[in-house]
Amino acid sequence: MSAARAVRGVAAATIAWTLALATASAAHAAAAYRPRIDYQLNCQGCHLADGTGEAGRVPSIRGMLVPFAQIPAGRHYLIQVPGVSESSLSDRATAAVLNWMVNRLSDVPVPKDFVPFTSAEVARWRRIPLTNVAATRASVQRLIDGQSRSRASSTASRSTDRSPM
Ligand code: HEC
Repeated sequence: MSAARAVRGVAAATIAWTLALATASAAHAAAAYRPRIDYQLNCQGCHLADGTGEAGRVPSIRGMLVPFAQIPAGRHYLIQVPGVSESSLSDRATAAVLNWMVNRLSDVPVPKDFVPFTSAEVARWRRIPLTNVAATRASVQRLIDGQSRSRASSTASRSTDRSPM
């Protein structure tokens, strides 16, 4: 192989590598960009950019996203609430928006074991309308409160166990 050919070969490989990197990072940027734009276009008008909503009209989602996403009934509610289930977003885009919201708009830290929403999960639950949004929400909240109460009492009994005899 001539020296000139070898140089051209290296140059071509470098260009191919640079293109591959650029494509990968563009895809990565698009993955983060799309749900943010979908939220801005479909949700932010009511929920505001930071998810705080509007007192008396649109509830803040900042404190509820994580606790609701941690139990099945709460996940179903998050998908079935009319603003989510009736949006024009695809199942996949809806799952991405929910995951983006959990990661960006939650005051409650996202636990390491958070299970991301999937398009299959959205597809299944968005088709089952909520007959009474407020009542469903209240029953989910009772489940969450019950779980944190039982966690608190088991912590209390553990600390009693540890008390010196
Ligand atoms: C027209 C205003 C409006 C739009 C647009 C809207 N929402 Fe909502 N959202 C509400 C209201 C009002 C509620 C309270 C429950 C109800 O009455 O439906 C709510 C409730 C919610 C809740 C549950 C909050 C809670 O504490 O129970 C979530 C999560 C949510 N919306 C997400 C979204 C997402 C995601 C989008 C965009 C895909 C969206 N919403 C679009 C008005 C809106």
